[in-house]
Amino acid sequence: MNQSEFHRQPDTLAAPSAHPLAQPSSALSEALSGALPAGASEPARSPAIPRSPGFDETVKLAREGYGFLSQRFRSMNSQIFRTRLMLRDVICLTGPDAARLIYDDDRLTRVGAMPQMVLRLIAGKGSVQQLDGPVHRHRKAMFVRMLVEDRTGIDRLVAIFRRNFIERVPDWIRWGAVPLGAELDLILIRTALAWTHAPIDADEIDRDDVLLAELAEQAGHFGPRRLPLPRRSSALERRLKTAFRQIRRGRQAPLPGTPMAMIAGYLDPQGRPLSPAVAAGELINLLGPIASLGRYILFAAVELERHGEWREILRVPDDRLLTDFAEEVRRCVPFYPFVGAVARTSFDWNGYQIRRGQWLLFDLYGTCHDEAAFHNAGEFRPLRELRHGPDDYSFVAQGAGSVKDGHRCPGEEATLSIIKEGVRLLTTAIDYDMPTEQDVSVSLSDMPCRPKDGVVISGVRWQEMAAG
Ligand code: HEM
Repeated sequence: MNQSEFHRQPDTLAAPSAHPLAQPSSALSEALSGALPAGASEPARSPAIPRSPGFDETVKLAREGYGFLSQRFRSMNSQIFRTRLMLRDVICLTGPDAARLIYDDDRLTRVGAMPQMVLRLIAGKGSVQQLDGPVHRHRKAMFVRMLVEDRTGIDRLVAIFRRNFIERVPDWIRWGAVPLGAELDLILIRTALAWTHAPIDADEIDRDDVLLAELAEQAGHFGPRRLPLPRRSSALERRLKTAFRQIRRGRQAPLPGTPMAMIAGYLDPQGRPLSPAVAAGELINLLGPIASLGRYILFAAVELERHGEWREILRVPDDRLLTDFAEEVRRCVPFYPFVGAVARTSFDWNGYQIRRGQWLLFDLYGTCHDEAAFHNAGEFRPLRELRHGPDDYSFVAQGAGSVKDGHRCPGEEATLSIIKEGVRLLTTAIDYDMPTEQDVSVSLSDMPCRPKDGVVISGVRWQEMAAG
C-alpha cells in the first residue's frame, strides 16, 4: 500500500523562500500597479500585496487543486497575495486573522463572491449561501433549527446511517472484497433521502440509474469543481421542484417536523414561501453534503490502518477519544478548499488597502494546516484534542465565526456525529482487513479528493459483541 502521500502534502510543498515579489522595489511596485485592472491600483502608502506571476491562474487552480493557495503563500512567504481567477482580480488570504476578516459580515458580503463558479456548495441562485444580512439570518435560522438546535434531528440522522450501514454488512461478508468508498456513498445517499424525507424512495434509486448518478454527483461535487463551467438543471432538481410545487398546490403533504416540511413551510420575513426552484436548492443543500460524508469515513479507515493503535484504542467505547479522532479527521481531510467574499466598502486590513468591490478568497484548507497553530500540521495526530467552536479561527474546516449570524456551516455537528458513528462501526461492529496491494494515497491536485483506489476492504466479519 502506498501511503506516502497521505496527509503529508504540506511537508512536501516547496520550502519557504523569499519570492522576488514579496517585497517589491518601488520601480517593481509601480510596474505591478500598472498591471492591475483599472480602478484597482494600490494607493501610494499602502504596502503592495505580492502578486502571483501569470495573467490568469484559473487553469493552474484546476490543475494544482488544494495545493494552489498553500504553495503560493509559501513561495511568497506571505499570508496574502493577489492573482487573477476567471479574469477577475482576487486577493487570497490565509491564517486566523484572515478568517476573522472573511467572516466579518459588516465589511464583506457573499453576494457576488461567485465561488460557485469554481465551487459547488449550493444548488442554485437564491440559496442561503448567497444571501446577506437579516434575510440571510432568517433563512439560516431554518438550517440552525434542524442541524444545530434539534439534537434529536442529529440523533435520528446518525441512527438512519447506522441502520443503513449495518444492512450492508451481510453482503460485504459474502463478497470478500468491498469497495468501501462506493458503498459509503450509497449508504449516505440513502441516509440523506430518508433523513430529509425527500420525495425519493431509497429503493427507487436502486431502479433509477440516472437519479442515483445525479445524487452521487451531488456527493462528489460537494466541494470544488474542476472547471468553471455553467451548470444545467438536473433531473434531480426538476424532480424536487415538482414535489415542492405539488406541496404548494396541496396535492402532497410532507411529514411535519422533517427537513422537507421545514423547507416547504418556510416563510421569508415578508411571509412569502420559497419558490419551488429555491426550495429544491435548499433541499439539495442538505442532500449533497450529507451524501458526501463518506469521504471522511474513508480517510478515517485509512488512518485506522496506518495507526493500528487507534483501531485498538477505539474498540473500547470512549466518546472523548472518538471525538479527538473524528475532529482530527475533519482538520486533515482536504474537503472544502476556500471560500470567497467581496468587500462592501473600502477599508484597511493589517496595513493593506482593500477596495470596495474587491474579491477575496480565504484558504480554509491551508489554515487548518498552518504550522503556527498545529505543530507538525501535516501529520494525523488525534491527541491534539481539537474541538470546533466560534472563537477558534484556526480549525476552520467548515468555516469560522458564528453559525447563527454568519456563513459558518450549520452541518458541523452532523458531520462530526456521522464520522464518529462511522469510526465506531469500523472499530466495534465489524472486523476487516485492508489489502496492502492498493493505492490509498491522496493527490492534492484531485478536487474533490479521495484515496486513489477508493479503499477496498476484505474479509469482513462481525465482531463478537455486534453479532450477538
Ligand atoms: C451534514 C452535512 C452538512 C450540511 C447539511 C451542510 C450545510 C451547509 C449550508 C446550508 C451552508 C450555508 C451556510 C450559510 O451560508 O450561512 C454551509 C456552509 C458551509 N459548509 Fe456545510 N454542510 C455540511 C457539511 C459540510 C462539510 C462536510 C464541509 C466540509 C468542509 C462543509 C463546509 C462548509 C463551508 C466551508 C461553509 C461556509 C461557506 C462560506 O463561508 O460561505 N459543510 N453548509
